[in-house]
Amino acid sequence: MKSWIKVTSLDNIPTMGARKVLIDDLEIGIFKNSKKEVFALENRCPHKDGVLTEGMIHGNTVTCPLHNWDIDMETGMAIDEEADCVTRYELKVEDNIVYLNI
Ligand code: FES
Repeated sequence: MKSWIKVTSLDNIPTMGARKVLIDDLEIGIFKNSKKEVFALENRCPHKDGVLTEGMIHGNTVTCPLHNWDIDMETGMAIDEEADCVTRYELKVEDNIVYLNI
């Protein structure tokens, strides 16, 4: 059974930017690309815990600010790295509100 949690307005997430939300002890990054598509990932790089919401967004990728690993926001997989990945969360937008399935 899905458990959708209302997190923020879509307008609260800058285009080509991100917001972080804290749900219990879990920090999640909500990212919006130039096409206004949104993605939700654990806000921690699989390499050495870089804060992904401080990274650069291009296409469907966020680049970690610490050592420039590229993370595919659709899959959570690190691109061109050794099969590391970050947890991706299901997200939906209804009436301009972002919901997460945790
Ligand atoms: S901590 Fe993200 S690339 Fe190293």
